Amino acid sequence: MRLRHVKGAKEKIKNHPEFIIDHHKGDDLFLDEKIDEKPIHIEIGMGKGQFLFTLAKRNPEIQFIGIEKYDSVIVRALEKVIEEPLDNLLFIRGDANFLLEFFNENSLERIYLTFSDPWPKNRHEKRRLTHHRFLKMYDTLLKPNGEIHFKTDNDTLFNYSVESIKSYPMTLTYLTHDLHRDDTHFNVMTEFEEKFIKLDKNINKFVAKF
Ligand SMILES: C[S@@+](CC[C@H](N)C(=O)[O-])C[C@H]1O[C@@H](n2cnc3c(N)ncnc32)[C@H](O)[C@@H]1O
Repeated sequence: MRLRHVKGAKEKIKNHPEFIIDHHKGDDLFLDEKIDEKPIHIEIGMGKGQFLFTLAKRNPEIQFIGIEKYDSVIVRALEKVIEEPLDNLLFIRGDANFLLEFFNENSLERIYLTFSDPWPKNRHEKRRLTHHRFLKMYDTLLKPNGEIHFKTDNDTLFNYSVESIKSYPMTLTYLTHDLHRDDTHFNVMTEFEEKFIKLDKNINKFVAKF
């Protein structure tokens, strides 16, 4: 994704610790310890936050936490919650490579991976968020029966991810190559999803459990 520098983004993030935590390598956040009772659902690579914002409004009984590594992107999500605060929505400005510093073992109920960067070159395989390296972290963090929900327009990344899941091993409980023609499945669109739907691109989705 091409990134535009947003002036003042760093400052704004620093000024709103009630909505966003700025993570740096070595900071143990263990954010789940600060959340009372509610099940925790996270989105990794949340971009500007439209998806989580909609889910948080509809599901006050769930605590949503969005993770995004770039200031200039996550600041757009922050602006939305400054304007309309939701007490069940928090953000982490941080890199998913450090997920084990964000939460304790067995603390999450659901992980959303939405339109993840595809990293098409073989030499970048380890950066894909469905590489076994990441699945191992999700395995540690998810509660028994916790779920991974994965959506993408990218057919190659989808097929790679399905194979990665099957060989971990995990179980796929739902799979479609055309989410928008499956009217049995509840769906909230992300920003990227809206763009691809306008181009009439099929959207792939799976749900998986360990
Ligand atoms: C293609 S965008 C999709 C944004 C949003 N999920 C959507 O569907 O509209 C992927 C996002 O994931 C973020 N991202 C990629 N790798 C990440 C990582 N390791 N940790 C945190 N965020 C990451 C990128 O910065 C980017 O904003």
